[in-house]
Amino acid sequence: MDLTTTYMGIKLKNPLVASASPLSKTIDSAKACEDAGLSAIVCYSLFEEQLLHEAGELDHYLTTTAESYAEALSYFPEISDYNLGPAEYLEHISRMKSALEIPVIGSINGASRGGWINYAKQIEQAGADGVELNIFYIPTDFDKKGTEVEEMYIDIIRSIKSVVKIPVAVKVSPYFSAMANMTKKMDEAGADALVLFNRFYQPDIDLENLDVFPNLELSNQWELRLPLRWIAVLHGNIRASLAATSGIHTYTDILKVMMVGGDVAMVCSELLKKGISRASEMLNEMKIWMEEKEYDSISQMQGSMDYRSVSQPEAYERANYMKILNSYKV
Ligand SMILES: Cc1cc2nc3c(=O)[nH]c(=O)nc-3n(C[C@H](O)[C@H](O)[C@H](O)COP(=O)(O)O)c2cc1C
Repeated sequence: MDLTTTYMGIKLKNPLVASASPLSKTIDSAKACEDAGLSAIVCYSLFEEQLLHEAGELDHYLTTTAESYAEALSYFPEISDYNLGPAEYLEHISRMKSALEIPVIGSINGASRGGWINYAKQIEQAGADGVELNIFYIPTDFDKKGTEVEEMYIDIIRSIKSVVKIPVAVKVSPYFSAMANMTKKMDEAGADALVLFNRFYQPDIDLENLDVFPNLELSNQWELRLPLRWIAVLHGNIRASLAATSGIHTYTDILKVMMVGGDVAMVCSELLKKGISRASEMLNEMKIWMEEKEYDSISQMQGSMDYRSVSQPEAYERANYMKILNSYKV
């Protein structure tokens, strides 16, 4: 049984990848991911705020750009609890590379055209096999147009592509008004993979203290529906590899991602909840299912249920909308 897949030019032994998260926080947990059969690991992110802080630029940034980082003022101290500083981060990538056989992908999380982009180069020099760029941007500026926001993404991708040789994945939000066109532009700007979708952590309200607080909920399986739809639409239309993240909890989810045309399925919440060894169960169950259904390889099923292949492509569009709403009986 051939479970191999190719993700942004990197051949992987199977399509299940650990997404950027505390799974990579220690060498031991990263090694446990490899032992459980995960085929690659994305390291948790190095944050733009950390780089600015290190460069003594954060205060300047906070006081000069009203819209960008006001929220970072209150949350910044906690960032260092989760993530190492830039130098330690690069060292961690390098140690992961020495300890693991599976590919290691570094990650940078930011939202501006700042000098942090050069850290992509250093992640490459630290030995990473690829870099994932998480552009986490909340467009709260009433004067900023959609086209300006899009241009910012494209600029960041171009800048990073101009400094590194390793493949670059872009983890994006689902909130573009013209998703297909935007993915085409990112593809043309050189993104080697699109990771769909960034799961924005929405703040909650503390009624007792009248405070807004960040609230991290692990994902649910239904959240995979959004990446499934878009991977189905994009597959075959763009050159970049496609990764699904958000809602991968069982082997059936990996299979669905493959059928709509994904190259890899990235997992995090399920392993944080149930333990890293859960990955090997998911992979074994996937293999058993494939044997029962007489599939010889992952490539055989990739894209078999994409937008162009299904008998009712409108199921991925608006057409089923009324039917679904009407099917709900009180
Ligand atoms: C505790 C935690 C930490 C995370 N840290 C990062 C991070 O550093 N960088 C990043 O791009 N995504 C981060 N993520 C998002 C995950 O990589 C993933 O995209 C998201 O959790 C959806 O996948 P899931 O449904 O398998 O959890 C984090 C998620 C969790 C739960």
